[in-house]
Amino acid sequence: MAIGVFDSGIGGITVVKEIRKQLPDEKIIYFGDTKRVPYGGKDKEELINLSEQIVAFLIREGADVIIDACNTTSALALPYLQEKHTVPIVGVLVPGADSASKVTKGKVGVMGTEATIKSGCYDVAIKAQEKSTEVVSIHCPKLVGFIEDGDLNSSYLKRVLRDYLNPLFLANCDTLVLGCTHYPFLSDTIYELIGDSMTLINPAVAAVNELKAYESSREGEDICYISGDYHSFYSALTALYPDHGFEKIVTYDPIEE
Ligand code: DGL
Repeated sequence: MAIGVFDSGIGGITVVKEIRKQLPDEKIIYFGDTKRVPYGGKDKEELINLSEQIVAFLIREGADVIIDACNTTSALALPYLQEKHTVPIVGVLVPGADSASKVTKGKVGVMGTEATIKSGCYDVAIKAQEKSTEVVSIHCPKLVGFIEDGDLNSSYLKRVLRDYLNPLFLANCDTLVLGCTHYPFLSDTIYELIGDSMTLINPAVAAVNELKAYESSREGEDICYISGDYHSFYSALTALYPDHGFEKIVTYDPIEE
């Protein structure tokens, strides 16, 4: 099986990490739309258009199952993608919401992009499990830029993070969903700030578990495609995930505008 993975940029690499942990024998074809990152401020129509072209590209490249590693497109485009294609496409949002519902004592904080949070999809999916659960959602527009630049723990980043986390502390949230695939790169820094006051949820863990239904053996090399600048991506990737295991990293833009 070849697993196609896509995201707006480097964030989906946190999902790749999880695939390597749970399904080490699978071939991975990654696409990061680094030319157009961030997706968090884009509207639904544009997100559907971009992700449809990415999915078509991954299928052409041989993906026989796809994981939409981007919470923003999982919130706003996934149902359209699933309707249009016969290849199975797994999102990260519902698995993340379900994981939070399993551990929370009643108050869930969700961090995500503007588009994900405004969609209200996490609230709906968490309350679908238990309608009395309180959900406090915050959008964190500055975080993706730090991570794309490979900054995971500068003092400026910590100040920004503290401001974002404050409403979740004030609301006494006991569980925190990292509702953007970039954010698990910040897990250690977030733990430093929240201690054991909240349980962190990385939606990739449950999403990758869903892929196990499609498991088979690896064929061919792991390839990473990015639409934007090679050098900045390569230096961020090797800093964030030195054991990334991609045999090829290629700049290629399959999207027509
Ligand atoms: N990593 C993506 C997500 O999970 C999108 C971040 C962005 O491009 O704004 O939502």
